[in-house]
Amino acid sequence: MSKPKFKNPVVKWIDYRLPIFTFMDHELNHYPTPKNLNYFWNFGSLAGIALITMIITGIVLSMNYTAHVDHAFDSVERIMRDVNHGWLIRYIHMNASSFFFIVVFVHIFRGLYYGSYKAPRELLWILGVLILLLMMATAFMGYVLPWGQMSFWGATVITNLFSAVSFLLNVVFSSKLVIESLCGKRIAPLLAKVRLKL
Ligand code: HEM
Repeated sequence: MSKPKFKNPVVKWIDYRLPIFTFMDHELNHYPTPKNLNYFWNFGSLAGIALITMIITGIVLSMNYTAHVDHAFDSVERIMRDVNHGWLIRYIHMNASSFFFIVVFVHIFRGLYYGSYKAPRELLWILGVLILLLMMATAFMGYVLPWGQMSFWGATVITNLFSAVSFLLNVVFSSKLVIESLCGKRIAPLLAKVRLKL
């Protein structure tokens, strides 16, 4: 790590005891960056900013939210009307969540377009997919919290979506039964060949 010569005496005093300025100078000015990177590589940091915004505003909102089926909706109304700057905190939280998804989608697009999922970053990509699933689950739960009409219909759509999985499994299993009833036992060796153990 190259030792920068700081002119400011306060900076010098701090840096001698706790070299945070040397560290920043090293990371921002001297650490080499591949020259093929472009502005698309900013979107990971933008997602980080969105995440921090969501966490801070979420914690502040939860200070005035009531987690009870009879009081949740009214507590959100109170945040919007009576709590000082509650409307602002809630709108920041709502818009930051949209911003979060937009920048993460661009971040993923960057990864797909420039092949960031390839070796040696496969595990990083898999972790990213897990983060995306967690984000979607968290956003869904946040959407349900106000316990209003939109929350109800949102929850209806998403729970129906999951029941479609069991519906599709049912289609796969019953299609095997249909094939067997049409072809009799002749289908069995074929299924064994392609290892279709349904
Ligand atoms: C909360 C969400 C996320 C945050 C805060 C985040 C943050 C970051 C940051 C700061 C970087 C380094 C700078 C950059 O390349 O942009 C990065 C790189 C990367 N991220 Fe994310 N990320 C998130 C979600 C995801 C998701 C959903 C995926 C993929 C499914 C992903 C895959 C990657 C990959 C592969 C890299 C390495 C890129 C390269 O070196 O070429 N990330 N991420």
